[in-house]
Amino acid sequence: MRNLRYLVQPGGALCGHLRVPGDKSISHRAIMFGALAKGITTITGFLEGEDCLATLNAFRAMGVRIDGPEQGQVTVHGVGLYGLRAPDGPLDMGNSGTSMRLMSGILAGQAFDTVLTGDTSLTRRPMRRVTDPLTKMGACIETTVNGAAPLHIHGNQRLSGIDYLLPVASAQVKSCLLLAGLYAEGVTRITEPAPARDHTERMLEGFGYPLERENDRSVAITGGRQLTGRAIDVPADLSSAAFFLAGASIAPGSDLLLEHVGINPTRTGVIDILRLMGADIEVLNSRQAGGEPVADLRVRHAPLHGVRIPEELVPLAIDEFPALFIAAACAKGVTILTGATELRIKESDRIQVMADGLTALGIAAEPTPDGLIIEGGAFSSGTVESHGDHRIAMSFAIAALRASGPLSIHDCANVNTSFPGFVGLACNAGLQIMEQTP
Ligand code: S3P
Repeated sequence: MRNLRYLVQPGGALCGHLRVPGDKSISHRAIMFGALAKGITTITGFLEGEDCLATLNAFRAMGVRIDGPEQGQVTVHGVGLYGLRAPDGPLDMGNSGTSMRLMSGILAGQAFDTVLTGDTSLTRRPMRRVTDPLTKMGACIETTVNGAAPLHIHGNQRLSGIDYLLPVASAQVKSCLLLAGLYAEGVTRITEPAPARDHTERMLEGFGYPLERENDRSVAITGGRQLTGRAIDVPADLSSAAFFLAGASIAPGSDLLLEHVGINPTRTGVIDILRLMGADIEVLNSRQAGGEPVADLRVRHAPLHGVRIPEELVPLAIDEFPALFIAAACAKGVTILTGATELRIKESDRIQVMADGLTALGIAAEPTPDGLIIEGGAFSSGTVESHGDHRIAMSFAIAALRASGPLSIHDCANVNTSFPGFVGLACNAGLQIMEQTP
């Protein structure tokens, strides 16, 4: 459905309360660890988006019994670290970089060969960042000449632990190597240049697997132990809540409560950056759920001003920049992002695609090699290409709250990869959005 478009009428405010779908990163990991554990894992709040379903289907194809998902409930009948079976054919990871990169770590340690493939976006994304360190561990993986998928992963290799300094702050690479470390002889130690999301570490500990967290930059795991199934309550995804945090901040009259949102400190850069810009966000009723901190977030409209985004916040808000750019476009003055080259290799080149969309709507946006300079202004009516990137599509949808006329956003089907039901929830909150299939 490349042709799915959003038509969004201008104006309105976001009000009431809502719960966005489950956290994508945690949902992927709950399936993976549940499958590799001994015993049963029950998951509630699971994200039934296409990305996490790709992970779920891959484990089904390798012989794991998984009941559901039904209204966010999934039961995984774990097979243990050595219980997976060879799948009948290639495993299709769709649009999901997290599935492909984390699964490559697991599959490098199996006794059978596998092939990982994906859609046109995923097969353009860089995979050497995982295949290079996995090869150092003893894995045998073939990529295309460009270092991309399909990945041909050869089984029956002896993996050994390595001491690895990540060249970029990437939770996907860190998690891939920790998962391979489960199958490696000796210690796998990973050091990050800056902290990236730590859901894998928290979940390993939750499944009873010993882990050494040496400081906030280094983690070490020793192979050969065992994971034990458990119950996991997946909080709402802060990355999905981000569209509403930005939307309510820019739309006069907004007052919105986002319920049960994950506020893991390795993810909360979006709240910090919006607050630096003057946003009114309250963190209410903080509590723990399944080893992760959660809270309700109340956001009200506030006048925003441009900021120079501190580089140390970049890895902590890496998926939220499309929404933050919309907030910056509505802010008084200039916002400058640097140190964010990683944005160029997400589901799309998010620096270029956002700059093009902002420019199409009359906002001055100048891309730089590692960031974007945005001058606050007023959105005109217009048409935006999302290039099949879910977060670009949803970001421009909320821009309509401050546009002078309707916005037409093209190529929106991939919103289902991370946020099924986005249109319905956004409508209920006050966005005048409808889907069109021309
Ligand atoms: C993710 C890590 C991040 C993020 C992605 C989810 C994860 O990617 O962009 O959406 O679940 O580990 P990188 O590790 O490439 O930064």
